[in-house]
Amino acid sequence: MGVSFDKVDGVIWSAGSKGPSLKFEIQPATNPTSEKERAARLVDPGFGRIFTDHMAVVRYNQAKGWHGARVESRANFPLDPAAAVLHYAQEIFEGLKAYTRDDGGVNLFRPDANARRFHNSAERMAMAPLPEPVFIEAVEQLVRIDRAWIPGGEGSLYLRPFMIASEVFLGVKPSAEYIFAVIASPVGSYFKGGPAPVSIWVSENYTRAAIGGTGAVKCGGNYAASLRAQAEAIDHGCDQVVFLDAVERRYIEELGGMNVFFVFDDGSLLTPPLGTILPGITRDSIIALAKDSGTRVREEVYTIDQWRADAASGKLKEAFACGTAAVISPIGKVCSASGDFLISGGAAGPVAMGLRRKLVDIQYGRAADPHNWIRKVL
Ligand SMILES: Cc1ncc(COP(=O)(O)O)c(C=O)c1O
Repeated sequence: MGVSFDKVDGVIWSAGSKGPSLKFEIQPATNPTSEKERAARLVDPGFGRIFTDHMAVVRYNQAKGWHGARVESRANFPLDPAAAVLHYAQEIFEGLKAYTRDDGGVNLFRPDANARRFHNSAERMAMAPLPEPVFIEAVEQLVRIDRAWIPGGEGSLYLRPFMIASEVFLGVKPSAEYIFAVIASPVGSYFKGGPAPVSIWVSENYTRAAIGGTGAVKCGGNYAASLRAQAEAIDHGCDQVVFLDAVERRYIEELGGMNVFFVFDDGSLLTPPLGTILPGITRDSIIALAKDSGTRVREEVYTIDQWRADAASGKLKEAFACGTAAVISPIGKVCSASGDFLISGGAAGPVAMGLRRKLVDIQYGRAADPHNWIRKVL
């Protein structure tokens, strides 16, 4: 049962982002990790180095559309050396988490938002857009079969859906074939002993995204291009890099893998507007939660000079970064070629910590879910 796509000017498009789902064939691993070994790996899983026993895979070609949906043993992909992704980086991905509730069930947080963003990423990268229900079904099936891998406590199961261009052809054009897959990695609490403030380096040599580019989508190339700037941040003793806009080189955009918020003395929040930044799902959720409690939230441009001046005058009370992996990280120190400055004396602030607690409580099912963000998988 394939999903039909049409071709317009050689670019594959879908009639609608919703579309039907596919029936997944479930083939459990014949030699899964033993319970003892799994328990040992879950003691201190860290981030992104330990993987579960299975993966979900769906394939696309022009004749069959999306087809061959399976959940199977996690294994290498046989990939021809001329596969398009290896040459022209036609690749997109997502990141979301499954959380264990106190009653033993399992929550996904806003998987529909990830499915939509993945769809948008595919369109921008001229890839076959995956119907959103197929994305969600693949994620849910993988969580169900690998549920024993979800760590307890403040841990979670990080899910990594991705799509690669697999056509064997060296011409520069949209691939005619794709592989969509989801893998899963148990992760511990991002911060042991509570969120520690991060220091960030303002990149003046490198930019991340320009208008008309790919900054607003989650394609691998964006991250490859950010690594040099991140290495520069580390060289300067900082944890993360923050990028400025590519035109005037003064407006704050975002970190390499997180959006950013500013908290002012009147209690209001400011975050850079969408356009060249990734539309973070955590960002969107924080805006909604802040507005729920009557906080004014502006999505407006903010310059690095203003940031420095507001930190010095005391007008700026806090700054924090946000994303799926760490939820909210307070920013304690900002460093740049023209000098360093501290925020909230370098400590975690109450607004960042309060929003973090609210969001985490919803994710783990410990608090009411007024926006219907939670999808119970089990
Ligand atoms: C560049 C970038 N910005 C922001 C985010 C935060 O997005 P989300 O809250 O959806 O995880 C991420 C992480 O996915 C990212 O890679």
